[in-house]
Order: sequence, then C-alpha cells, then structure tokens
Amino acid sequence: MCEIVGYIGTREAAPILKKGLKELEYRGYDSAGIAVLGRGGLAVEKRAGRVEGLSAALRGRCGIGHTRWATHGAPTAQNAHPHVCRKIALVHNGIIENAHTLKEECLARGEKFLSETDSEVVAHLVARAYRGDLLAAVREACSRLEGSYALAVLAEDGKQIVCARKKSPLLVGKGEDGCYAASDVAALPPKCEKAYALADGDFAVLGKDLALFGADLCEKEGEEVVLERKEEGGLPFGFRHFMRKEMAEIPRAMANSRLEIKETGDFSRFYEVLCHAEYIQIVACGTAYHAALCFEHAAEKFCRVPVEVTTAGEYRYRDPIVPKGTLCLAVSQSGETADTLAAAACAREKGAKVAALVNVLHSSLARAADFVLPTRAGGERAVAATKSFCAQLAALYSIVHALAGIAGREAPPFSLAKEAETALVRSEKTARWASRFAAARSVYFIGRGADYCAALEGSLKLKEISYLPSEGYAAGELKHGTLALIDGRTPVVAIATSRALAEKTMNAVSEVRARGARVYLITTLPELVSRGEIEDFVLLPPCEEEYSPALTAIPLQMLAYHTALACGNDPDKPRNLAKSVTVE
Ligand code: G6P
Repeated sequence: MCEIVGYIGTREAAPILKKGLKELEYRGYDSAGIAVLGRGGLAVEKRAGRVEGLSAALRGRCGIGHTRWATHGAPTAQNAHPHVCRKIALVHNGIIENAHTLKEECLARGEKFLSETDSEVVAHLVARAYRGDLLAAVREACSRLEGSYALAVLAEDGKQIVCARKKSPLLVGKGEDGCYAASDVAALPPKCEKAYALADGDFAVLGKDLALFGADLCEKEGEEVVLERKEEGGLPFGFRHFMRKEMAEIPRAMANSRLEIKETGDFSRFYEVLCHAEYIQIVACGTAYHAALCFEHAAEKFCRVPVEVTTAGEYRYRDPIVPKGTLCLAVSQSGETADTLAAAACAREKGAKVAALVNVLHSSLARAADFVLPTRAGGERAVAATKSFCAQLAALYSIVHALAGIAGREAPPFSLAKEAETALVRSEKTARWASRFAAARSVYFIGRGADYCAALEGSLKLKEISYLPSEGYAAGELKHGTLALIDGRTPVVAIATSRALAEKTMNAVSEVRARGARVYLITTLPELVSRGEIEDFVLLPPCEEEYSPALTAIPLQMLAYHTALACGNDPDKPRNLAKSVTVE
C-alpha cells in the first residue's frame, strides 16, 4: 500500500527516507519516489519498481518519500509521488474521492497535470493556496478534499514539512537529530525517540521542533505511541523467506495470543460486555474474515449465541441492522484496513460496543474501539498472513471459552501450541505436492463445518502467492455446479477433522475421484489416511474439531508456500497485493 516518510533535521535526508521506505516495502507497492530540499532548491527522483533503484545522492536535510500502490493510473514514474506543483512537493496516501471535480476546476484555470493520479490535484490546491504559510495552505486545501488522506508537504522556500491526516494512518516523531513522519512505527529510525499518532483532521508541522495542531489550527498535545520496533528485524539464518519464518513462529504466536477473559484482570470490562451480549457481529477482511468465520462456528456450537460475520467492505454499505445488545468484533492484523475501520465506525454509530482484535496496538482501529483485544503474534512482514491468522484464532477461541462459561455451557479451553509444532514438521511433505499444483489450471479446497472455513483460507493463501485460480468450497455443494469443472488435471485438497462429517466429506472425495481428480487429504483422523482414493495426506495430531482450523491452516499455508516457490514467485511479495489496505 502507499507509505509515507518524511525527515527534517541535521542529517542528510535521502538515506533516511530510503531506509524508512525500505522498512515498509514488505507491505507491497509498485513505484517509489523522494523529494529533497537542498541548497539548489527542490530535487525529485521517482521510478517504477523498487526503492533500491532510487539513488541516495540528492543532497539536503529536509525531504519526503513515498511508495505507491497504484489505484488511479498505472505504476509508472510519472504517477509515482512526490507530486510537484510550482513551489510545492507532496506525498499522499489514501483516495481523494472528489479528485475528478477538483481536477476539472484546475484544468479550467489552465493548470497542467503531469500524472493520472488523484493525489496530484492536492499539490495543485496547496500551491494555489500557498502565500508563505504552508500550514494555512495545507489546511485550506484539505477543506476541499473528500475521501481519505495522509499528507506530507514541503515548500521550496520553506524550512518545514506539513503533515495532515484524515482516515489514513500517519505518525510524526522527533529525536535529537530532527523530526520524522511515517505511515508506521517500523519506518521510524531508532534515533526517533518520541512519536505521536496524528488524529483525524489534525495537522503537524515538522521544523526545528515538532508541533501538532487540531483542525482549528490550535496547537495541541499529541497522543504518544509506543515505539516497539524489535520484531521488525532481518531474516534469521535458516529461512529464505519471511513467510516461512513467520509460520515457524505460529506455536509461540498462538500461546501468546490466548486471552484471559474473566471477571477480574485486564479484560474485565470486556467480560462485562460479553455477559450482556445478545448478538455478535464481526467485520473483517481477507484472512481476518476467515478467522471470524471459524469463530462463528465455534461460538454458535458451544455458546448458542447468534453470530453474524460480514466482510467489512459489504457491511459498511448495506445499512446493517444492529440490534440492541450487539457486540461488534472488528478483526484486523494491521488495524489499518480502511474497510474494517469504516465498518467498525458504522457499527458503533448504530449503538454496538466495538472490540478491536488487532496485532498492532497503536493502530487506528485500536484507537477507535471501545475495547482492544491484542493478538501477540509479533510483527508480520510477509504479505500473506500466516501466524497472525493462528493468533487471531487463539484469541477468538478464548472468547468462545469465556462466552460458553457465561452461558453456563462447556467449551474446551484452546491450547494447540504443541500440536502446531508437530503440524509444522508434518506439513513439510507438501513440498512434494507443489510441482503438480504449480502445473494445474485450477485447484479446489473442500471441507464441511469448520473445515470449510479452513478450505476458504487455504484457497486464499494459494491464490495470493502462487497466482493459481482456486476456490474453497463446501464439500456438500460441489455437486450443485462446481463438479462440472473437475477433471484429471484438477488437484483437490480435502480437509476432514470432524468425525461426524468425515464420511460426508469422503463422499465428495469419491465424487471428484470419479472425475479423475487427484485428492490430497489434510486430516486429524488416522482412519482416513489409508483410503485408496487419496494421492497423499498430512496427518495432524488429534484436536477438538471446532478449533481445528488453527492446525489445518499450517499444511495449507505450507502448500501455498511451496507452490509459490515451484511457480518461481517471491512468496513474501506477491504481485498486486499489499499487506495493509489503507484505501477503500
Ligand atoms: C490485505 C492483506 C491480507 C489481509 C487483509 C486484511 O488484503 O493482503 O493478507 O488478510 O488485507 O488485513 P488486516 O490487517 O485487516 O487483517
């Protein structure tokens, strides 16, 4: 996604900006650029492709930088940020929804545009309003903008960077050597000692010192964020990719993410709300949405509480009914996903209490929620979520356990860290399946109950990093249409962990086998692995079937990883995807 950095101080800006952008590059982008203000004025360098390609030769101690994930216009050097208009250079993260109207207005005034982006229009508005006071000009420009933005702006004749924020994340910070701006803590260097999250509608001026302003331009205190950077290090010995390293961290992530939700202690306020929750709505995107589906299964089975899971992007626009006593869980690794933020705000407006289940504690979602429930997976750099999914499940299953207790019912406590260790070892054999998957035209993942939720996530993982068309399907639904697509070249992954449903899933296996498909089985049930119909299997340790997605996810992730390698792809940086999607 688009990321912003900025620096003004006593050191050369270009290397600091490049380093900051490199720290964020794992999140996905397609072009990059920096603008540095030096003795000779403003110097800009932009390019399609990686940050490495930017030279650090621009001289000057004030600058802004950007990585762009294309939304309006192709990923070209011209469309890359910073955008310059007369004395103004600007980087933008977000989407300007009224860009078309504003651009028409600028064109009518005879102004020329160099890019196809929505962002360039902001540079024009600031340049038009600029009469020596950059903060006033940025504020005037922002008053015309609809949509979302995090901005860092500099003027050729000024000695400051002005930042503004609405809906898109932006931090500002300071250290002995100067002031910093960044989309995330990871891009702030160790020399930055204090950092503040800009609130919606706020501005900051970075100069000799750092000053924060409210929407009325009155100076205000900032909300300090914890500078936790320790997890963002390099790739340790023995791992070729962050994705594989992060999978190795699953057992620890799950053990650390179990929550003690009870009457006393850290989560007692949340426990109170849980006691009165009559209805649970969950909003989430991508992998987090699949974790929510797993919760729905377990919570409805063990607690008999109605749960409704909706992808956040759909929830926010369908005028959802939020009955009295609704608890809304917003699940997000990054806590910055624009759709999830908007859906949580919508639920809150309609009277729900909102709990944010996030892996990034200083995130926008955490700040906007009534309660924060942390997953403690540690930093996740690979775009495809692995350990954060299992950590979300550990936290969500802790909620199931607490809810069952409140309802006077029984739900087993969740603890599968040891089993996850075994699953990691046993999943390695999926490397042998990879060449056949890489050669397939399409792949199907089938299961029933909780295994169906796991199938959806297995399919998403494969799509994300191998680029193979694939589908997760309820095993019983196959015969209602999808069976027509199965032939001898279609690998099918069947997931079966429920004794009650195993035979039904195996019926579907027989159906696809009869059409020539090769079937790969992921199961916790030893009696299934000797069936003649299957090509190969991963046998996982026994576990409570409702919690099994936390284990079956591991061979599914591993299969996706090895298939991506067999396809010649970089599993950490899949094309077109971003780690946290901060635009709608
Ligand atoms: C992006 C990522 C996915 C992730 C989804 C939700 O699409 O590529 O891996 O599952 O966003 O992200 P979140 O940070 O809200 O969990």
